[in-house]
Amino acid sequence: MPAPYGGHNWHPMTYSPSTNLVYIPALDLPFMYGQDNAFRYNPATWNTGVEFALTIPPESITEEVALRAMVKGHLAAWDPVAQREVWRVQHSGSWNGGLLSTSGDLLFQGRADGMFAAYQASTGALLWETPVHTGIIAAPVTWAVDGEQYVTVVAGWGGAFGVASGIPAQDGNVIRGGRILTYKLGATGALPTPPMPEALPTPPPMTASADTVDQGELLYHQNCSVCHGGGAVSSGVLPDLRYMDEQTHQIFQGIVLGGAYKEKGMVSFSHVLDSEGAAAIHAYLIKRGHDAIEERRLLAEQSQSDSAPAGG
Ligand code: HEC
Repeated sequence: MPAPYGGHNWHPMTYSPSTNLVYIPALDLPFMYGQDNAFRYNPATWNTGVEFALTIPPESITEEVALRAMVKGHLAAWDPVAQREVWRVQHSGSWNGGLLSTSGDLLFQGRADGMFAAYQASTGALLWETPVHTGIIAAPVTWAVDGEQYVTVVAGWGGAFGVASGIPAQDGNVIRGGRILTYKLGATGALPTPPMPEALPTPPPMTASADTVDQGELLYHQNCSVCHGGGAVSSGVLPDLRYMDEQTHQIFQGIVLGGAYKEKGMVSFSHVLDSEGAAAIHAYLIKRGHDAIEERRLLAEQSQSDSAPAGG
């Protein structure tokens, strides 16, 4: 069953009168549904009656990495008369951008993996792609001045899934915020390389009990995950709470209960959390900071063994 985001969300589809096909930016998203039997109205969050505890990532980090690999999307070419898919391009990420088809048999799409691409509309063959250093969700447009044709796209990451579901458009050097990019044939301009990411701060030592961390995990997924990401993995649009700096750790209660960052859009949660609850969430985030270090070590090990010569 599709996640609440559907098999396709708002990202514009396109129809090409040249191929008579409809092109769909489709989502392949797993989701665990369950009834929240202890449901009570919470003025601070979504009130869907869905058991948010089921959206907590699995305990094992290898399982979590495997689960994240299931979060994908694809580009589908659909024949509306025959009611069948004609071709499909599988994408590695989900929440890919809207579409533009042209009479020159081209199909443009920006992707979650930070690429802007052109496909052959009749076959799905990849003709051209270029890095834009952020995920794209918007649909491109095309226009002409004095007989010269341009393709323009708003490059930037966000939207409901982009904020909530914490799959980084690209790990590392992602541009926060959007840009308008315009392309034409024979152009020579180049995008500046984004700065390398700063070293991630190390989380403070874990001192809380396992019970407190569990309680924090639940409270986090009831109150915070729709903006800061499931499992505290941020998409990069809002701060990743696994990588808070020392000062943020110190004023954590002031932010979460005191409303210190109200002007930035982070309101106080004192109407739904007490200081014990906020401390439990803090403990959970510290644990997730340590998990992230372990996860990076595992991924580095995996990529090393993937590139190691066979039989050596
Ligand atoms: C409706 C969206 C939303 C929800 C829900 C939300 N936050 Fe935030 N949070 C924000 C925004 C926006 C910021 C500020 C972003 C910025 O600095 O640009 C922020 C910032 C923060 C920061 C500062 C991080 C830093 O490194 O500067 C902390 C800590 C934080 N939030 C904790 C929480 C906790 C804990 C919860 C749940 C109790 C929560 N937030 C729920 C939107 C949200």
